[in-house]
Amino acid sequence: MASTLKGRSFLTLFDCTSAEIEHLLELAANLKQMKKTGVKHQYCKGKNIALIFEKTSTRTRCAFEVAAADLGMYSTYLDPKASQIGKKESIRDTARVLGRMYDGIEYRGYEQEIVEELAAYSGVPVWNGLTNEFHPTQVLADLLTMQEHFGGLAGKHLVFFGDARYNMANSLMVGCAKMGIHFTACAPEKYFPKGDLVERSQNIAKRTGATITFETDPMKAAQGADVIYTDVWVSMGEADEVWEERIHDLLPYRVTKEIMDIAGPDAVFMHCLPAFHDLNTEIGRTIHEKYGLDCMEVEDRVFESKASLVFQEAENRMHTIKAVMAATLGGK
Ligand code: CP
Ligand code: NVA
Repeated sequence: MASTLKGRSFLTLFDCTSAEIEHLLELAANLKQMKKTGVKHQYCKGKNIALIFEKTSTRTRCAFEVAAADLGMYSTYLDPKASQIGKKESIRDTARVLGRMYDGIEYRGYEQEIVEELAAYSGVPVWNGLTNEFHPTQVLADLLTMQEHFGGLAGKHLVFFGDARYNMANSLMVGCAKMGIHFTACAPEKYFPKGDLVERSQNIAKRTGATITFETDPMKAAQGADVIYTDVWVSMGEADEVWEERIHDLLPYRVTKEIMDIAGPDAVFMHCLPAFHDLNTEIGRTIHEKYGLDCMEVEDRVFESKASLVFQEAENRMHTIKAVMAATLGGK
């Protein structure tokens, strides 16, 4: 199995078969176990990777850096403000330069075409650390978290509340389709996933037994859900001006205790993080002053409840990213 991923990029979950995703989850679980028991391995010893971040990050950057160190690799962090990327040098030229020095490249930034171009021109595996359209390494961590919690994936039902046109819902829809998980996007209609993504996911779902559905009524959507998932209402790179409309449109889709109660006692809450669940952030306080909200996409009592798996998900970013690098670089 590892040989099918060796030398390949990880740009969206469409790129992997269901069996390859299963393999990555199994590898991640093994790597997690080794980390917990102090077993050193350095499967990619002596390799070098570049980490390009055109948007900010806590989890993804730290996950790549820690995973690289555990695999015996060196990493270089490239902040576009301190490099030539974009302003003085095209992505295509950057790809051809970095590809001659590094064994793999992570990219976080804007359009999906950018990461696709890096992969096409660098000649080394490229990993998508988040674009506007997709966040595949996050969904791999989410799948591992669900597998750990439920003991399996097929037949579970994940309901996403909020802006379902963006990277998180898109990638969850594809990941669920691949793994036979029922996926529902719950939002006002204009926030439903767009383009051929839905059709492509539905075609995959037919093969795996998953279903892809859309619902505007939060109470209906929550019934029978195993996972209630949400994301921020305004994503990185979007203009501050969109806040007002988003709050107006998405406030009825906030994950509340009532939503969790309808989902039932065995349902869990998941979020890619960072989350606006209290007033302990600068943006949270600004929105509070302007609109009077104490939280945004999720209530603090849900975020802090026993049903919340958010920090397990965050930890699993590191184990799953380590698996992606080890498999694509051929270390494992
Ligand atoms: N979930 C996630 O990608 O977090 P960061 O933005 O902190 O990397
Ligand atoms: N949709 C969010 C995800 C953050 C991990 C964003 O793009 O900002």
